[in-house]
Amino acid sequence: MARRNKLLKFTELLTFDNVYENYDPRNPLLVANHDTSVEMSGKWHSEHFKNENPITLELACGRGEYSIALAERYPDRNFIGVDIKGARIWKGAKIAIESNLNNVAFLRTKIEFCHLFFNENEIDEIWITFPDPFLKKGKVNRRLTSPNYLGVYKQFLKPKSPIHLKTDSDVMYFHTKEVIKEEGHITKLDTYDVYGDEEMLHPDLDIKTYYENANISNADSIKYLQFNLKES
Ligand SMILES: C[S@@+](CC[C@H](N)C(=O)[O-])C[C@H]1O[C@@H](n2cnc3c(N)ncnc32)[C@H](O)[C@@H]1O
Repeated sequence: MARRNKLLKFTELLTFDNVYENYDPRNPLLVANHDTSVEMSGKWHSEHFKNENPITLELACGRGEYSIALAERYPDRNFIGVDIKGARIWKGAKIAIESNLNNVAFLRTKIEFCHLFFNENEIDEIWITFPDPFLKKGKVNRRLTSPNYLGVYKQFLKPKSPIHLKTDSDVMYFHTKEVIKEEGHITKLDTYDVYGDEEMLHPDLDIKTYYENANISNADSIKYLQFNLKES
């Protein structure tokens, strides 16, 4: 039954006009509404949002709680949630459609291929919300703040733009701090305990994702880092 539900969601996803999917990075076209193939790199403003407002990516968006909440808070900005899991994206995309949120879209792909779908300087901000910490030693490079991923983001993120990491994982938090230090990136905001601080470091830290609400890891605190990539 669960499998059937998932298949129904995958089929319905193809009819949503706020969802783009890629099945094969060797062919960087995106499948959009009703199976049409589109090339979106450099065209998100003109072809999808029909405005020139800044674009924020939410990476590892899952059901897209940040994309939806930010789109409601900032109607003069655009948001794109990125995740590989279709059934999760279905949820966020459905909410956006039902709420008439035209400033939010979703991209179903592996995050490591994002440079294929966005052009240089096309993106103004990145949120990485509760990414998997990939605890096994051999999988460190799969963490979304590893140097290989930051190299991908650099290809489309405007210089001096913020990257926000919100995580419950000590491993992810300390790993990211180490990468920032080793690679010479610039920390802008840093807290080990978002809700324990006297004043919240950033106004959008109050948004809670599905994963955060479920507190699957039983974390004692939620950590937050905001940083800029060094300019080369
Ligand atoms: C722990 S969940 C968090 C989801 C959501 N942000 C939340 O807080 O509820 C991590 C998400 O990252 C996605 N993910 C992990 N690695 C990915 C990758 N390389 N490309 C695309 N999605 C990825 C998974 O599919 C999953 O939905």
